[in-house]
Amino acid sequence: MNKKVILIGHYGVGKTSLVKRFVHSMFSEEYITTIGVKIDKKTVTVNGTSVNLLIWDIAGESSQQKVPQSYRLGAHGALYVFDLSRPSTYQQIEEEINSLKALLPNIPVEILGNKADLVTKEEIDQVSQQIHPLKASLTSAKTGEHVDDAFEKLTQSMMV
Ligand code: GTP
Ligand code: MG
Repeated sequence: MNKKVILIGHYGVGKTSLVKRFVHSMFSEEYITTIGVKIDKKTVTVNGTSVNLLIWDIAGESSQQKVPQSYRLGAHGALYVFDLSRPSTYQQIEEEINSLKALLPNIPVEILGNKADLVTKEEIDQVSQQIHPLKASLTSAKTGEHVDDAFEKLTQSMMV
């Protein structure tokens, strides 16, 4: 079974790093912005079923780059990533999730607050209050914290 997963969110939040951690068990401090989209594959087994994840790592939009909406079409699930250490990446989160859901109704969306290694427990509590009622999983592509869990949780939700 093939499932298309998209990673979206502002530039520099760690989308490429999360994929690199999940697929290749690696991390790099270097920032090389994604141009357009990069597609990776990983097979996971959930509840005894083997699932080929086609992971579309889509560039975050910036003044230099506009990304075609068509990259998102046909997705079976989405990881919406923001940067816990950079408020501008989650200030509009509700609107952004709503427009994603308008484009892709009925697909599971997991929200990831990434770079958990850079913030304190108190800062995380503040972010949770700000994005309430949305709930985010806390991940770190650097330490690997909750990265596999996030992809597995999304895969589970795509299969029901
Ligand atoms: P675009 O492709 O431009 O949209 O960015 P992106 O979301 O793919 O971000 P990318 O993975 O390239 O990471 C941007 C920078 O953040 C890089 O310097 C990474 O090393 C760093 N980074 C990513 N995830 C983490 C993390 O969990 N912790 C820390 N400390 N740094 C991270
Ligand atoms: Mg990238």
